Amino acid sequence: MFESLRAVPADPILNLSILYRQDTNPNKVDLGVGMYKDEAGHTAIMEAVSRAQELILVEEDTKAYVSMAGSKRYCDLLAQTTLGADHTVLTNNRFAVAQTPGGSGALRVLAEFINAAKPGATVWAGNPTWANHSPIMQSAGLEIKQYPYYDKDTKAVDFAGMLATLKAETKAGDVVLLHACCHNPSGADLNLEQWQATADVIKAKGLLPYVDIAYQGLGEGMDEDAAGLRLMANTVPEMVIASSCSKNFGLYRERTGTAIIISTTEAQAHLAQSQMNGLIRANYSMPPSHGALVVETILADPKLKQMWRDELKTMRKRIKHLRSQLVDAIKAEGVEQDFSFIERQHGMFSFLGINAAQVDQLVNEHSVYLVGSSRINLAGLNQRNIAYVAKAIAAVL
Ligand SMILES: Cc1ncc(COP(=O)(O)O)c(C=O)c1O
Repeated sequence: MFESLRAVPADPILNLSILYRQDTNPNKVDLGVGMYKDEAGHTAIMEAVSRAQELILVEEDTKAYVSMAGSKRYCDLLAQTTLGADHTVLTNNRFAVAQTPGGSGALRVLAEFINAAKPGATVWAGNPTWANHSPIMQSAGLEIKQYPYYDKDTKAVDFAGMLATLKAETKAGDVVLLHACCHNPSGADLNLEQWQATADVIKAKGLLPYVDIAYQGLGEGMDEDAAGLRLMANTVPEMVIASSCSKNFGLYRERTGTAIIISTTEAQAHLAQSQMNGLIRANYSMPPSHGALVVETILADPKLKQMWRDELKTMRKRIKHLRSQLVDAIKAEGVEQDFSFIERQHGMFSFLGINAAQVDQLVNEHSVYLVGSSRINLAGLNQRNIAYVAKAIAAVL
């Protein structure tokens, strides 16, 4: 029966990594895959994570099963980290939460939860959005439609277009997928005024906000990056949130994420928890433990927590610095085209805004690897390669 199957097209970003590894050019630069890299070009283990692992090695005394929703302590700490410890949603117990296998696992669990509540519901995602959003939603049975998000001319959010589409084309019970911060792939985020206007439309039209927060702390700060999401949670009766510890704790392969459901009442939240647990049980039964244990060890220990926050701040500042350095370096090559938008955007990504042929030239002639859409991972830059990258960009314009 398997002969009827067709190959799934290779993931273009992961494919890029393979090509990068095979390239023998000593000047090659990887601006493709969305992982933080340090000055040495290495995705290192954070110091706070290493310390927590040492503690776990000594203290962990069982590998017994965890529950469907994972560790209660992790879930509570992550709900507080995402929503803020004193958010009324938490004090009123209007939420359900589960530890999941990464942010992707959270997205999938929540998509299945939505599909259980409203089979085949429509999810409105921004154009563009993270490439894996559509496959995840569709695999869970949901339908994807798009609202305009990034304006290639202004290099900013097309907020008028976004709001007009949400107002005119959505219907009650539709879902609106939003990035909390550090938009992937564009780096263009909503400001707080725009969050409020979006929340007002969502509430007025009876839509469900579905917020993906995969880069908390890598934009402006832990609280700043969650401010829009928190404001949304203040405004609407129901909401779902998928969060990831892959980037801000550097725990990519440990698959550590969180699914949060906000309900209208505490009783509804209990129902939501039981639904979510049931969906998890029928899928992967329970999440892996190690990454979440690392995160809760850090968040529950004031010294480790401070150490992690300081490391995260260093990462955030470094990305910001690389943004301005790249803009300056391109200018120094005599390029007249304005790239200053890169400095105004947030998180690890921006589009260079060059065409597909120019991207090909960067990859094939200069060994500067970036996604076909011209998305670059700023964290792939460092003091050794930034001038080379700027020169290569200037050469293909
Ligand atoms: C916007 C967005 N959401 C979710 C994820 C999922 O992250 P993970 O499953 O690795 O935790 C990513 C990862 O790149 C992302 O960019």
